[in-house]
Parts: sequence; C-alpha cells; structure tokens
Amino acid sequence: MTDINTLKTELTGMVEAANDLDALESARVAALGKKGKITGLMAGLGKMAPDERKATGQALNELKNEIATLLERQEKALKKQAMEERLSTERFDVTLPVRPEPAGHIHPISQTVEEMLAIFASMGFEVREGPDIEDDFHNFTALNFPPGHPAREMQDTFFLPEDPTEEGERAKKLLRTHTSAVQIHTMMNEEPPHKIVCFGRTYRSDYDMTHTPMFHQIEGLVIDKQTHMGHLKGCLMDFARTFFDIDDLPVRFRPSFFPFTEPSAEMDIGCSRKDGGLKIGAGDDWLEILGCGMVHPNVLKNCGLDPDEYQGFAFGMGIERVAMLKYGIPDLRTFFESDTRWLNHYGFSPLDRPNRATGEK
Ligand code: DAH
Repeated sequence: MTDINTLKTELTGMVEAANDLDALESARVAALGKKGKITGLMAGLGKMAPDERKATGQALNELKNEIATLLERQEKALKKQAMEERLSTERFDVTLPVRPEPAGHIHPISQTVEEMLAIFASMGFEVREGPDIEDDFHNFTALNFPPGHPAREMQDTFFLPEDPTEEGERAKKLLRTHTSAVQIHTMMNEEPPHKIVCFGRTYRSDYDMTHTPMFHQIEGLVIDKQTHMGHLKGCLMDFARTFFDIDDLPVRFRPSFFPFTEPSAEMDIGCSRKDGGLKIGAGDDWLEILGCGMVHPNVLKNCGLDPDEYQGFAFGMGIERVAMLKYGIPDLRTFFESDTRWLNHYGFSPLDRPNRATGEK
C-alpha cells in the first residue's frame, strides 16, 4: 500500500507540474498509458493472492480515477489559461486599412469619366447610354450628314455585315464613330426637356500618336424651349474651369462646322508652351478641347421635335485627349497597351476621390 501512496504523490505531482498541454499528455501517458505506471501495476494483479489482489485492485482503481479526474481538471485549467493569454496579447487595430498598399490602380480613362460625370451631375445632367453597334440612321442620317459626306466613307467607319432583319439605312450596321448617336436615341425615345450626358467607346479606322481605332467620347445634350448659345457657353466654361481646377482658365469659342449643329463652334482653353513643356492656364496659346453648337433644326425634326418649339445645344469631347492634357500623358496609344508599369505611374488610387467637382473645396 505504501507503494501506491508513493505513486499517488509522484503522479499527482507530475500532473500538477504540467504547465502546458504537451506536458500534461506526457503525464497522462506515464500514468495511464499502455506502459504507464498504474497500467503496469494492474497487470501484476493476477500474480497476487486473492486477498491482496482485492485490496490492491481497489486501491489502484481509486488511484486511476483520481488521476483521471485530476488530468481533466488540469486540462481545463491549461486551456483557459492559454485562451486568456491569447486574448490579452493578440489585438486587431481596426483603424488600419484592409491592405496597407492597394494593389490595383484606376485607369486614367475611368478616373477622367468619373470626374466629368461628377461635374455634369452637379449641373443637373442625367446619364444616358447607347449601343456601340449603331446603324447608319442613328450615326449619320438623323444627325443631318448628307449622303456623300466623307465621314461615312469606308476608310473612317468600321462597317459591319448588313442586318437581314432590318431595311435600308437601319440594316447598315457599324461601330459608332461618335457618341452623338445617343442624342438621337434620347430625343426619339424620351419626352423633352432633355439634359443628358453620355460617355463610351467610339471607333474610327485610324492609328498614330494621336489616334487609336477605339477611343472614348463624352457627349452632352440640352433641349428645352428657351435654351440658347449663352447657356452653352456658360455650361462649358464652368465645366472646363472645374475640370482643370483653374478658376481663371481662359476659354474661347471659334466658329466651326458640324452637320448636326448650327451654329457650330470649337472651344479652346488657354495654355502656354515653354521649353517644350505645356502648361494649361492663362498664357499666349490655345488648345482645342471640344466641339459644340446649337442642335440643327433638321436633327430636331428627324427626332420628331418641332424646331419652332424646341431648341438647345450639344457638345462632344474626346476623353483621352483631355485626360492627356490634364495629367500630362504624352502618347495616346499607351492608354490601351495594358502595361502595368504605365498604369502604376499614371493610374489612380482606388481610395482617391474625383476632384473638387464632388463638392469639396
Ligand atoms: N461628334 C463630334 C465628333 O465626333 C463631336 C461633337 C461636336 C459633338 C459638336 C457634338 C457637337 O454634340 O455639338 O467629332
């Protein structure tokens, strides 16, 4: 019996000294495992005289139960202690950004479109969309392009196979050469007044430093009963000054020609050129940034509007061109090369917000 008491002291000491789960497992194996001390003594019971076997067996069973209970208690205590330790040492700083360095960049085209839409939205314009695949009617005829107009030629326009389900000029499918086609959809499908902008891809067969077969335009249309050239000028001057973030940016309107506007104009903004550099703002030079004009009465008629009742203005702008001017990007073709080095340099952080058009400042 004294053996058993000594063993109890020894095993209890071992279990209580275990200060982590690994040590506790070793203690369990040493006591109750296949080759453990208690197991070993129990295996020897068979060789004992019946009386001795009974007493020793009972004592060993008791010891076994006590040690098992002790192991369980110790395990619980160790687990609790481990959890408390984790809770007090592991901390999350919820003020840290999810990723310290955002991996992607916003393409300058997307950024520029966002900025433009924010400005026009603040002036009360709504956004419309139109299809990239247009027909001859929406892209040319309704916009008052005469039959032999050079812009309709094969070398400029990407024509698609005729659509057998349509007739005449509606069967002649093409990739839109400008976003002006969206004016036609809007005027034919919605009730005036109109105050809309649309943006998107446009296509022309051309490729050099300043032309790519696909590029982007933004188009505006304002139609109401009293809308006049003064509104056009005010709207586009405000736009340019906000977009380039220069309060005294000089602008001028030069007479021009488009089949769908009368009168037509191009808008220039002031700039200066020094030592091969270009600076936008007051200076002694000018840069063209957009085409505009009062919507031609024929266009209104083609869309079912009475030119004696309704009038208004329209404008169209190349998005790459103004993005290049605003952000100093020298070559148009690089916009579409999908070069991540270029994008890392000229792109924008996803966390950036468009400029002051959003109402800041
Ligand atoms: N559609 C013209 C182009 O692609 C741009 C344009 C000029 C649009 C004058 C207009 C406008 O709405 O009034 O070059």
